[in-house]
Amino acid sequence: MTADASEPLAQIGVVGMAVMGSNLARNFASKGHTVAIYNRSPEKTRAVINEYGHEGTFIAAETIEDFVASLQRPRKAVIMVQAGAATDAVIEQLADAMEDGDIIIDGGNALFTDTIRREREMAKRNRHFVGAGISGGEEGALRGPSIMPGGPVESWETLGPLLEDIAAKVDGTPCVTHIGPDGAGHFVKMVHNGIEYADMQVIGEAYHLLRYAAGLAPAEIADIFTEWNKGDLDSYLIEITAEVLRQVDARTGKPFIDIIVDAAGQKGTGRWTVKEALDLGVPTTAIGEAVFARALSSALAQREAASEAELPAGELSTLEALGVDKPAFIDDVRRALYASKLVAYAQGFDEINAGSAEHNWDIKPGDLARIWRGGCIIRAKFLDRITEAYENDPNLPSLLLDPYFTGELQKGLVDAWRRVVVVATQLGLPVPVFASSLSYYDSLRAKRLPAALIQGQRDFFGAHTYRRVDMEGTFHTTWSGEREELSY
Ligand code: 6PG
Repeated sequence: MTADASEPLAQIGVVGMAVMGSNLARNFASKGHTVAIYNRSPEKTRAVINEYGHEGTFIAAETIEDFVASLQRPRKAVIMVQAGAATDAVIEQLADAMEDGDIIIDGGNALFTDTIRREREMAKRNRHFVGAGISGGEEGALRGPSIMPGGPVESWETLGPLLEDIAAKVDGTPCVTHIGPDGAGHFVKMVHNGIEYADMQVIGEAYHLLRYAAGLAPAEIADIFTEWNKGDLDSYLIEITAEVLRQVDARTGKPFIDIIVDAAGQKGTGRWTVKEALDLGVPTTAIGEAVFARALSSALAQREAASEAELPAGELSTLEALGVDKPAFIDDVRRALYASKLVAYAQGFDEINAGSAEHNWDIKPGDLARIWRGGCIIRAKFLDRITEAYENDPNLPSLLLDPYFTGELQKGLVDAWRRVVVVATQLGLPVPVFASSLSYYDSLRAKRLPAALIQGQRDFFGAHTYRRVDMEGTFHTTWSGEREELSY
């Protein structure tokens, strides 16, 4: 149904009628809201009305001015256009047509520093700007995403109920909360995506081992993932992995997985997570390895040259020659996957906590785990445990130190993890996230690290000084002279 635009009727508007935008508009409409829609090329808007107009009440606007005029005050418009220049252009147009107190929401995957800039610019013009991370892909936008809005808290008061209506629900609780001011929402969505990269990579590593170490067929591995999805690993990504692996290519009859070029794409959010982690000094090694694994997979010419060159593989073994029992190995892979995933989440939450402290966002990590339980790509059963962990101790130094997760690691996970990394290495199969997560784990729990030697070297060549374990102060040894110790 379309409504007359002469009266401001719409509770919310959506700009950008590509799939994410139109699905979000349909989601609002399905909850009984009148939704104004606008797209730069009006044909798309008309197409949405033709196809989905019967689903609810839409006001199709052909100019941005008509679009804004059709919105109830304070006006609320969600932008679902390409991140970057296109977003800036729409923000300007909306801000020009809007009035004081109106709310512009950017629902795309914007870089959080852009969001901070935009929020400041809009605040100067008395417009509220809300950078909202929206996760769940096309299906989520339509049926219930997980939403991570930042921006001024006042805007949450009017916007919150609308977002709660369209968000996914878990046990009746909507998967949305006000994350914090200015760029907090997009920052959190960025790290969500970084965790998503690591989660996808560890699942990929598990698949690779089951295929090329255990010699199982894709359909058999699909069954294993379906089984795993009934336990601790229960998650959306495990579920869709089984679907992809079970798929047979209609053209060739081959397993679908075998006809896909093994070069993973990336749009940038994983890379941003790692760049930001470097700036914050937070070791998100699992996410970093996952981003690099995608980059290496896509370096097709280099990979081809290397695979054809006579690069020694070293002495390789087989599962049989190693005397490894296949069913036991499969279960070890499950445990290694679980342990590596714990590390990825622990590191992601470390980055969120560090970002929150740096920008004074006061983000509640337990709330994030709660709104990630449904709708989003990394939704998983164990997020409940993360919420509990932060509820029990909001200042938890690392997720791995929460008694539940420490308990999980104590249930034989670590030995299995080590065995899997050893076997993968002996078979020459790459497991960058399994291996680096294990190293991270061992570094984190180590009483001493080789960093003492690095400090000694730094002091030797650059007089960079060091601290002593047995007294306060800063010291330098005169390495090229008498080697006396000077204190500062
Ligand atoms: C989500 C997804 C979504 C999208 C990203 C990641 O939470 O719904 O993360 O935002 O899939 O664009 O895509 P890349 O893998 O291409 O970086």
